[in-house]
Amino acid sequence: MNTRELQDKIIALKKEKGMCILAHAYQSHDIWEVADFVGDSFALSQYAASVPQDTVIMCGVRFMAETVKVLSPQKRSILANPLAGCPMAEQIDQKMITWLKDKYPKHTIVAYINTTSSLKTAVDVCVTSSSAVRIINNIQNDKILFVPDKNLGEWVAQQCPDKEFVFFRGGCPTHMRIRKRDVEAARKDHPNAKLLVHPECLGEVTDLADFAGSTTEIMAYAKDSSEKEFIIGTESSIVQHLQFECPDKQFYLLSRECVCHNMKMTTLADVYQCLLGRSGEEINLTDDVIKGAKKSIERMIELGR
Ligand code: 13P
Ligand code: SF4
Repeated sequence: MNTRELQDKIIALKKEKGMCILAHAYQSHDIWEVADFVGDSFALSQYAASVPQDTVIMCGVRFMAETVKVLSPQKRSILANPLAGCPMAEQIDQKMITWLKDKYPKHTIVAYINTTSSLKTAVDVCVTSSSAVRIINNIQNDKILFVPDKNLGEWVAQQCPDKEFVFFRGGCPTHMRIRKRDVEAARKDHPNAKLLVHPECLGEVTDLADFAGSTTEIMAYAKDSSEKEFIIGTESSIVQHLQFECPDKQFYLLSRECVCHNMKMTTLADVYQCLLGRSGEEINLTDDVIKGAKKSIERMIELGR
């Protein structure tokens, strides 16, 4: 079977079985083409809250499938490849949050959505890269404890000068491998290109960028721009999607480090096997976790609109 035949089988099967395929923008383009919805973390959460089908197959990482279960507990949420987890989501646990709460009792705890659902039960509100500035500006308290991504937190703090921030020292292992020297080398190779990066990158990288934003914001910027060349400082799939969407423009990956092995774990064949009920993992969460995590995610959706 070739890729197109497999895609046709997947599209026919998902219709026959009444299943929905959601994909994060870091998934490969062959998966993107069979998905019902592709987006950044905020858009995926919004969609997950209102998905019409009874079963959702999530092509992304574990916390994303958990978010679907939390927002639609009556539905089956299946992680297409059970090995796909976000290492950043494992960097902080509830014990650390309890310790931080004791140390900073007056702070509102803001958690990046890249956290486990049990961690989400212990925080005040979640944010994503595309919604963090808006949400934090909408919080009454001027004291913010931001976990776990320090780079995203510092980038947000630059845009919320009236707030006082405390950071946890976590971060995305993929984006943190990109360095200033990669920017210098890419700028030298492509002097006319605009540099678009994700705010999970180190400050030494975002400070030099022409634009920083979420995965879909980066794609929208490149599509809407009259410029013809772009250096992309985020996961390599974004370059792949942009090459399909804007064939008259040129896209260069900022560094060979821009590969998230967890996002790359899911294949088109996994999606097919999942639809047949032969693989994937159905997410099960306790009622307490669902109830607790729901509060911080729903608050995010409400404040981030
Ligand atoms: P966004 O799609 O919200 O930009 O998130 C990027 C990411 O690293 C997801 O794991
Ligand atoms: Fe996690 Fe980074 Fe991969 Fe996103 S890109 S899933 S934050 S490791």
